[in-house]
Amino acid sequence: MRSLYIHIPFCEQKCYYCDFCSFVVGENDIECYIKKLCAEIVKKGTGESLKSVYIGGGTPSLLNNVQIVTILESTQKAFTINSECEISIECNPNSLTIDKLKAYKDGGINRISIGVQSLNDDILKAIGRVHTSLDVYKIADKIACYIPNFNFDVMIGLPNLTIEDLINTLEKLISFAPTHISMYSLILESGTPLYKRVKQKLVQLPNADYVVEQYDAGLNYLQSNGYDRYEISNFAKQGYQCKHNLQYWQCGEYYGAGLNAHSYIDGARYCNTNSLEEYLKGDFQPNYLEHLTQSEKIEECIMLAMRTACGLNTVNLKAQLGYDIIKEKSKEIDWLIKNKFIERQGDNLCICKDKFYVSNSIIEKLL
Ligand SMILES: C[S@@+](CC[C@H](N)C(=O)[O-])C[C@H]1O[C@@H](n2cnc3c(N)ncnc32)[C@H](O)[C@@H]1O
Ligand code: SF4
Repeated sequence: MRSLYIHIPFCEQKCYYCDFCSFVVGENDIECYIKKLCAEIVKKGTGESLKSVYIGGGTPSLLNNVQIVTILESTQKAFTINSECEISIECNPNSLTIDKLKAYKDGGINRISIGVQSLNDDILKAIGRVHTSLDVYKIADKIACYIPNFNFDVMIGLPNLTIEDLINTLEKLISFAPTHISMYSLILESGTPLYKRVKQKLVQLPNADYVVEQYDAGLNYLQSNGYDRYEISNFAKQGYQCKHNLQYWQCGEYYGAGLNAHSYIDGARYCNTNSLEEYLKGDFQPNYLEHLTQSEKIEECIMLAMRTACGLNTVNLKAQLGYDIIKEKSKEIDWLIKNKFIERQGDNLCICKDKFYVSNSIIEKLL
């Protein structure tokens, strides 16, 4: 089964660290975009049943209820959405309201992801977030009444973030009983305002060792509160792993609609334009098309699956792509197992729980 990603490239203000495809625009542009986006969804529609739909951004919670309902209706028209389909939406705390929660629920959305990042107001201000901790507290205890399956995003490696801050944030967030928490390590993206400030030495980032300490502290706290790590940055209560994320990590296929959205269908990768002007005028021809070779597909499968806690299913890899990793990489696998970097769990090869922080080097050995 395939999935669908829908991109909403609008934000109230650009956060200083963010280089995702999102802009601050007026209501008129948003209206034109939604019309075009719905036309693209309908054009891409095949009627097939979808495993998941993810409305991401940008800030989808900036859209009004009519706009969201229009997107959901176009999706239902174009594909088959059954009760098993996970439909998620990304929200910022200050633009999420009870009225929107009701509309999401009525429209069939069954999972919400809220970008909190931190509950320390000085840090939120320093990274250019538009919301405060109060915005989070105002809405957090209302979410579960409408959509019980919800996630909070937090970040580590932020300027001036201490382990105490992080644990304080996690403790308060967990008190609202989310089913899922993502803990992302800040990536300093070149070209962002934060990048410039760091280079000008106006802002100092924590050193790499301290970020690893923050990660370990967050990991222990989350695990001791019943959130299992199922990917390096993702933690969930049992039964609440994000189906859409898993689709990416398990090399599943997906359609992408909207600005800069990627698709992976029949071994080919497509990417829509990232120019709003072009998108509004265009006819949805992808501006980039790549047919993955067999060895690229194998590499990608290994890379993505090894980032997850359940690891790489070697039998599926052989059946789907004809690659017997156990035979081809026997020396490397033996060495990694002997040195307790990876372990075998049935047909799967998994990175040992305490070695996730060196996952990139481990994966390199398997490629
Ligand atoms: C692209 S945002 C979309 C959701 C929403 N606009 C928000 O920011 O809350 C999804 C998540 O990506 C993460 N993110 C964005 N930029 C990042 C960066 N440079 N490094 C690490 N994580 C980042 C944040 O945790 C954010 O919640
Ligand atoms: S709100 Fe989210 S998508 Fe928008 S600029 Fe901030 S991090 Fe990026």
